[in-house]
Amino acid sequence: MDILHYQQEFLNYLQSKKWIKDPKNLYEPIDYILHLGGKRMRPILTLMAADIFSSNYKKALPAALAVEVFHNFTLVHDDIMDDAPLRRGKATVHEKWDISTGILSGDAMLILAYQYFENYEPIIFQKLAKLFSKTALEVCDGQQLDVDFETRKDVTIDEYINMIRLKTSVLVAAALKMGAIVAETNELDANLIYDFGLNLGLAFQLQDDYLDTFGDAATFGKQIGGDIIENKKTYLYLKALEVANEEDKQKLLFFYQQKLEDNSVKIAEVTRIFELNDMPVLIKDKIENYTEKAFNTLSKMSISQENKENLKNFGLWLMNRTV
Ligand code: IPE
Ligand code: IPE
Ligand code: MG
Ligand code: MG
Ligand code: MG
Repeated sequence: MDILHYQQEFLNYLQSKKWIKDPKNLYEPIDYILHLGGKRMRPILTLMAADIFSSNYKKALPAALAVEVFHNFTLVHDDIMDDAPLRRGKATVHEKWDISTGILSGDAMLILAYQYFENYEPIIFQKLAKLFSKTALEVCDGQQLDVDFETRKDVTIDEYINMIRLKTSVLVAAALKMGAIVAETNELDANLIYDFGLNLGLAFQLQDDYLDTFGDAATFGKQIGGDIIENKKTYLYLKALEVANEEDKQKLLFFYQQKLEDNSVKIAEVTRIFELNDMPVLIKDKIENYTEKAFNTLSKMSISQENKENLKNFGLWLMNRTV
């Protein structure tokens, strides 16, 4: 089935819920972030997986909603942590309201996400809740590492990959596996689709890091250069340190020890060093590697060729996105 069809089904389900209740200052920010748009890739993956393994994707709608509400909770808190002004082209929750509102509305979303599992009978409920709790804790681990890395000078590329596996990939993987759980598929296929999601998630976060510096503000919807401002130890930075000459390397090290009021020179200089050292090409290679790995996992799965193609096309679309 067409990806847009899953997206529309999900959006209809999202619309059917009443988000705003009292106290308004708690629920309006939830309604705001959930209706701000976004690709809805995680719920799409949950529905696709359920469809592939059982042809009854509608049963997976509450799980898909749980994943998307959880994802949006992480964005609200992530934007506080990253001091980000823009999300999906609009003001972030803590900018539009304030930090306290962002914290509490985020907390409520995390709990709401869990509540959607109550739609499932005990065995499926337990499997979903177990996977979800493990995943949510891993996302916290990843987010803490991401912040810790801002002030560390000795972060390795392996450590970076592990960090993005935790903060981003495990949720992409879990979104797929939840679809498989709702469809009551066998352990082997559920684990294979999880592995597919892990590698796809790594490629996805690398692409996000690429777009953070080289994307178009109009389509990306986030502040361009945000990672540079925050001294994020992304692949662009770590690989540049590895291949740059001594002068560029010292400049990078210098800039990434600064927290500035005016970041225009820092962003321009760092971007120039990334470009001169071929980072756009090198990161694309890395993205392709992980995408290939994901596709190799697909070939091991006992699903139809058509379904493999659908998952593959979704992966390719994600890797070429500008949003
Ligand atoms: C943003 O996720 C956070 C990352 C893990 C990079 P998405 O790029 O899926 O954000 P939306 O939901 O489409 O806005
Ligand atoms: C996303 O990392 C990880 C989570 C939100 C858990 P980023 O900080 O790169 O995400 P964006 O770029 O703000 O969407
Ligand atoms: Mg962020
Ligand atoms: Mg972040
Ligand atoms: Mg980012």
